Amino acid sequence: MKKIIVITGMTSGIGKALAEHFVNKGETVIGVSRNEKRLSDFKTYIKSKYQVDMETLTADFTSFDAMTKAINHLKLNYSKGIDVLINNAAIVPKKKKYTEDGFESQYQVNHLAVAYFTLELLDLIKLKKGYVVTTGSDAHARAKFDPDDIESTARYHPFRSYCRTKLYNLMFNLALRRKYQNSHLHFYTVHPGRVKTEIGTKDTSLLYKLFWKFFTRNGFKPEETIGTYDFLVYQKNHPAAYFYLRKAHNYLLIADREDYQDILYEKTLKDLKPWL
Ligand SMILES: NC(=O)c1ccc[n+]([C@@H]2O[C@H](COP(=O)([O-])OP(=O)(O)OC[C@H]3O[C@@H](n4cnc5c(N)ncnc54)[C@H](OP(=O)(O)O)[C@@H]3O)[C@@H](O)[C@H]2O)c1
Repeated sequence: MKKIIVITGMTSGIGKALAEHFVNKGETVIGVSRNEKRLSDFKTYIKSKYQVDMETLTADFTSFDAMTKAINHLKLNYSKGIDVLINNAAIVPKKKKYTEDGFESQYQVNHLAVAYFTLELLDLIKLKKGYVVTTGSDAHARAKFDPDDIESTARYHPFRSYCRTKLYNLMFNLALRRKYQNSHLHFYTVHPGRVKTEIGTKDTSLLYKLFWKFFTRNGFKPEETIGTYDFLVYQKNHPAAYFYLRKAHNYLLIADREDYQDILYEKTLKDLKPWL
């Protein structure tokens, strides 16, 4: 039976490679991203190469109202269940910015949007005893958890904020694992490695763009990173929570602190309350 796989941030980099990989395997892939033109170009590419009409949904994750439309569409059209949600979209902008919903942009796009999508689609994923796979990063190991500044707005630094959101990806999935431990749901976080993508060149300074090109010059190609996701969504169950190159991978032990996970979870629910 075809798997229904929802992938966010699939108009470039790792998400794009993932979407093509699963289309090529014959699965039903629904892509969600912010850029209409990129989505349409990708659909055209998939149609011409695989003769598949891939469904795409436009939603900018800086707007929960835009996300709600995509979520409602998925609830209406995939009411029999979703097998896999891959939370992959993320940003590392150079400046502190606030979204139309009033949150620091990385906190919203990289964490709150992931939590919103996951929580809203959980009942559908449960129907298929399915998988939530979030693209995290080993950059989380550089982060400190600060219960008094979850949104990272004090003494803002873009990379610090990014690292924290990647820590939250992991902690949120760990919290969900605990809460849904008897529900046959699977929550995994993946470190893709150092990958040659555009992430460090979007809305960043010239200096950072140069750094990013240099930093990733020997990195993986996006299509070389997807084996881990493939491995996770085709096996029944794996006890580990964090993966790199198809294997369980060590993570910052602070992520296991249940009191911190609960603080993050409660703050997330509070921030999402108008939309949940
Ligand atoms: N590259 C690495 O070395 C590396 C390392 C560790 C972890 N990661 C993680 O890998 C994931 C994918 O990143 P990537 O490197 O593949 O970067 P990327 O090429 O920039 O891809 C990011 C994707 O997210 C989408 N996106 C960005 N902002 C969005 C928004 N506001 N609403 C909806 N979609 C949005 C982008 O859309 P557009 O096409 O419109 O920009 C793009 O499709 C991220 O979670 C990142 O943290 C990457």
